[in-house]
Amino acid sequence: MGLKLVTTPDVEAVKIELSIDGEMVTADEGVSLYEVISSTGKIIPAMCYHYTFDPFGSCGMCLVLQEGKKSPVRSCTAKAAAGMVITTEGDDLFAARKKGVEKHLLVHPLDCPVCDADGHCELQDMAFEHQVTDLANAKQKNIPEDTRSLVLDFNMNRCIVCGECINICKDVQRIDALQFIKKDGFTQVVAKGDQALDCEFCGDCLAVCPVGAITNKFSKYVYKPWQLRKTTTTCNYCGDGCQMYIETKDTEVVRVTSPLSWKNKWGERTDTDNGHDGLCVRGRFGFQFIDSKDRLKQPLMRKDNALVDAPWIEAMDSAAERLKEIKEKYGADAIAGLITARCTNEELYVFQKFMRTVIGTNNLDSSARYGHVNFVRAVHHALGIHRTMNTSADITKATAILVVGSNITETNPVASLRIKAALGTYKASVMVVDSMQTNLAKLASHPIMVKPGTEGLLVKGLVKSVLDQDLVDSDVTAQALPAFDALKHAANAISLEAVSQQTGIAVEQINEIAKIFAEASRSIILCGEGIVRQHDGYNHVLNLVDLAWITGKLHAEGSGINTVVEEGNEQGALDMGVAPEFLPGPMAFDDTTAQEKFSQAWGGALPASHHGSTLMDILQGCRDGKIKALYVVGENPLATLPKSYGVDEALGQLELLICQDPFLTETAQQAHIVFPACTFAEKDGTVTNQEGKVQFVRPALDPLGESALDWHIIVGIADSMGHMMPYENTQDIQDEIRKLLPGYYNLGQPKKVEANPTAYLNNGFANEAAGRYSSSGNAQNQARPVGLKLIQLLYHSGKLSTKASGLMDISPNTKCLRMAPEEIERLGLTEGGRVRVTSDHGHVELGVEADLAVLPGTCVFPEHFTDPPIKDLIPVELDPVTRVPYFKLAQVSIDKV
Ligand code: SF4
Ligand code: SF4
Ligand code: SF4
Ligand code: FES
Repeated sequence: MGLKLVTTPDVEAVKIELSIDGEMVTADEGVSLYEVISSTGKIIPAMCYHYTFDPFGSCGMCLVLQEGKKSPVRSCTAKAAAGMVITTEGDDLFAARKKGVEKHLLVHPLDCPVCDADGHCELQDMAFEHQVTDLANAKQKNIPEDTRSLVLDFNMNRCIVCGECINICKDVQRIDALQFIKKDGFTQVVAKGDQALDCEFCGDCLAVCPVGAITNKFSKYVYKPWQLRKTTTTCNYCGDGCQMYIETKDTEVVRVTSPLSWKNKWGERTDTDNGHDGLCVRGRFGFQFIDSKDRLKQPLMRKDNALVDAPWIEAMDSAAERLKEIKEKYGADAIAGLITARCTNEELYVFQKFMRTVIGTNNLDSSARYGHVNFVRAVHHALGIHRTMNTSADITKATAILVVGSNITETNPVASLRIKAALGTYKASVMVVDSMQTNLAKLASHPIMVKPGTEGLLVKGLVKSVLDQDLVDSDVTAQALPAFDALKHAANAISLEAVSQQTGIAVEQINEIAKIFAEASRSIILCGEGIVRQHDGYNHVLNLVDLAWITGKLHAEGSGINTVVEEGNEQGALDMGVAPEFLPGPMAFDDTTAQEKFSQAWGGALPASHHGSTLMDILQGCRDGKIKALYVVGENPLATLPKSYGVDEALGQLELLICQDPFLTETAQQAHIVFPACTFAEKDGTVTNQEGKVQFVRPALDPLGESALDWHIIVGIADSMGHMMPYENTQDIQDEIRKLLPGYYNLGQPKKVEANPTAYLNNGFANEAAGRYSSSGNAQNQARPVGLKLIQLLYHSGKLSTKASGLMDISPNTKCLRMAPEEIERLGLTEGGRVRVTSDHGHVELGVEADLAVLPGTCVFPEHFTDPPIKDLIPVELDPVTRVPYFKLAQVSIDKV
């Protein structure tokens, strides 16, 4: 029924002219007539239309008169054609539309007083607009409410059978979890197979339902829409940085919504290239941590070996005094600081300035060190850029997308919709290299399921294959022939047969992927934690750069190399210089011009120890007794890192551990002083998403209890130490950043970064490349034949989501190892049976559960949960260049107990 797109990235639509209410209008031939009418600013009723999916044509409200036709036509499903003469207003049309509203209301309950959509209902609006007053013959459907889903309730008495929920789930999410069935004499929406809905719970169906037929279980009967205060802000869970509305009633968060709504239906289908304005399950249903009863509301100080409530002044003075003493006694480098990349840009900026100018050390780092640093360091080194190259729209319009080591539908669900659109709408070749049968792999044109930990080896194989098949862009490589010769020489060490044997991928398939990628007009690489946070992640990114370079994809329009990030502001953390190797910009710390610029601006020399310690070296320094005081803002290394790294011992050695956090984390429990910090929902400032977009964070609530903004606490400590940091408000910090980094706060689409590999290719590339190419993977460990992977789940983000009761209801810690069903059977187990998992670092006993995404020979456990302590079985390895810790994979044996 629907109209398909008439334009593609390669084909411009034919322009036509038609008349709308006497005005000549230019439009693309074949698009929905409704789109053309709405583009003129005329709003005509449409209860089943939404620009994000193909017109469905069920509600009968978008009627217009077309010259030459006797009856009114449905404008949403009619195609715009040259010479059409259309009338959108008139008494006849009003009467016909009124009839349509009456038809819906005849079988619609008038339970508006208890309906969640009361005051936000298109049917109410239409009834009002068309003055529908005679409902004497209204019938009731009396369909029992379907409350089987964990998150959404379905009241089919209210359903107007518009199909919006089904269509958005199918066309945008490409999940297709809903369907119409005829039941009890009525057409009803049910989860596929009429089971309890068990989907990704993105809530898009809820957002576009024009009536109250789908309701949010977490906020039902808690509010009337006019009681809510709506604050526009940016989601803090992942690097997609979705725009959201936090809706509060008094001091309580009631629900989270987004610009996606039945109210926001006007646009062109191609507008979804830039996003559909929805959220994922975490953003929409994971808000309960904000006003959780577990929040810290008051400072704590350690007295008689216990943390007890303390007044702010005492805690603040004590922190400042102790830091001063330690600095005087042992020097500034005996102090280090860690901060979470969920903080705002302004807080991150103030933190690094505090560490560098007030404390006087370069021992500072953020959670971006867990992986994003590898991507940024590699592209900075090779291409002179510091972030991802392409926009969301580039991804949607790509003809080939190589996704390596990214379970993107789970880690960055809204960004993944761009790949789904490329696949579904524009029929792109999507090649997914992963060691799990991810959701995207199931949809992909080319799923490439490799053995765990061999994603990087497959990339080397692709480079080798491009060279062997002569798929090289010789115009590009001719500009750096010595580097190209060096790469060819280095790649001689690669045997495609060896790559095939170790990755489990046939040579023919490697060649096919290389050919598709090289020959496509717009090819995009998207790499994720499964390669960036794995052994040798930094070099793997450089190998991906090689692949893009020799195939000419570094400069081709719409092509490039990209990543996705786990936490909300990892890009901002590096842009603000929260890493020993970067100053704000980011500019290299050892760049003398940058040093001069910042030392002048900050009124003093920067720390002498140019290369301070990174996260892992800071913890090592604590363990060695070199670092005596650690200031931790929102980070929780004790719960994150495997036991073998000795974080417990490291923290135990400290003379002073200061933590500031919304929660009493495992790390904070070891602290001498704990400050209660606000969540993002109480903050103002900005964050920078993985695309480089700087977006506002706005306060939806006042700080809970006595909690304070992170930058307030940092500035308070500085003041107490006798160093004024003269900021009254966030604007003051922004003014300073704006002066130092002109253009950083450009709103809207960020300026495209231009990759320039010239310096890299002409300076030392040959030596580097020689070390990066070999076919040797990890030798198979016969005693421990199973690969254990720590994975991320759609319903969680770091440890923060475990404080959101909604997400814990949807995805509790089952404390089970996830394995392929055949693997469970091979062990002679049934689901729930127990196994002992043994690595070189110990053993853990736990139950097993079947997971169809897990490949035989592997097992997985979500990294968000610390119980049982599976993470402690994983060895920790440090990247020799970036000091990024790798602890995602271990070889284990599994025995039935
Ligand atoms: S919540 Fe999302 S995935 Fe689930 S049915 Fe609705 S649109 Fe589909
Ligand atoms: S549940 Fe809502 S969105 Fe779905 S068909 Fe019914 S009225 Fe339309
Ligand atoms: S978690 Fe990520 S994808 Fe989900 S709503 Fe938040 S920013 Fe968007
Ligand atoms: S909007 Fe056209 S039939 Fe519903």
